[in-house]
Amino acid sequence: MSKRYHESDIPEAAAALKRGELVAFPTETVYGLGADATNVNAVGKVYAAKGRPSDNPLIVTVADAAMVGQYATITPTAAKLMAAFWPGPLTLILNILPRHLSMKVTGGLQTAAFRNPDNALTRKLIATAGVPIVGPSANTSGKPSPTTADHVLHDLSGKIAGVLDDGQTRVGVESTIVDLTVTPPAILRPGAIGPNELEPILGPVDSAVRHVGKNEAPKAPGMKYKHYAPSAQVVVVDDPSEFAAAVEWAKTTGQTYGILATDEILAKFSDVPGYSLGRDIESATHALFAGLRWFDLHPDVTLVLAQAFSDSELSMAYMNRLLKSAGNMHFQPNMPTDSF
Ligand code: TXA
Ligand code: MG
Repeated sequence: MSKRYHESDIPEAAAALKRGELVAFPTETVYGLGADATNVNAVGKVYAAKGRPSDNPLIVTVADAAMVGQYATITPTAAKLMAAFWPGPLTLILNILPRHLSMKVTGGLQTAAFRNPDNALTRKLIATAGVPIVGPSANTSGKPSPTTADHVLHDLSGKIAGVLDDGQTRVGVESTIVDLTVTPPAILRPGAIGPNELEPILGPVDSAVRHVGKNEAPKAPGMKYKHYAPSAQVVVVDDPSEFAAAVEWAKTTGQTYGILATDEILAKFSDVPGYSLGRDIESATHALFAGLRWFDLHPDVTLVLAQAFSDSELSMAYMNRLLKSAGNMHFQPNMPTDSF
């Protein structure tokens, strides 16, 4: 069965990676599913374990910026972003050096995604292995990304050598992805580092995701796939003042419903099964995926009323993931009872 590695087991986990086995690892965003990025067989196992479509390219996770230079061209802008934000939740798409990375990693593109996570154990694991590791989120494809080692084992136990356990992740949603191979640079996926932080270095960015949920135009290849699908239907409640009406509507649907919201809102509906998003957008981002997974473990709940957070630099990443899990369904006053 899959092991749970701790800091003292890093040499053992690194040896497993070098043998071509899969080791899940912690980051500041979500847990990743690691395999030696230079070993085609090992990379193939990642797609099989996740059930991930093989044309969806992987992130190359490095111990430091120097490791990137072996595989890609580091432009002056890339160097500035690395200096400002690495290690941290920012993934950079760069032009790669010909024939240095397998098609299994790049999906046949001339570019690849590079990431240097802000987790000391993981950087030590990669440095010990001596090779970059691919790192998609360590969930079964279509499930919420894992924010604890338990989530990883729930999805992948028996399919991986083990998981390096470093507790709960800090941010809770995946890294911001910036494509530096296009002009102007484009934000392909919103994350904890937003356009306001990037633009002083990058200049104006093309951010189709700036107003996610309204006119989202996903550009990372992976975004064409269905993501974050809980078994219940999620319905986004745009304004906290609408919860009472949303609950009245939920009652009329005949579904068993639950609420994913802050403590303040949950307190008003104490007879309804609820999962707490804490008190603000930061705690909500941290708790979102765990909350979606919690409702999956309560299959009697078939409808989840989930709290939106209004447009802000911080809420972009949260709303992007929440709206995907909801298939873009918002609560509306006078919504028909049979509207799903
Ligand atoms: O926070 C994160 O980034 C996490 C942790 C584990 O590091 N990883 C993660 O990986 O979210 P994954 O594979 O779930 O998402 C990577 C995204 C996919 O949507 C993929 O399509 C996109 O990056 N991607 C990879 N290579 C690309 C490329 N060359 N051009 C554009 N998008 C790319
Ligand atoms: Mg993922």
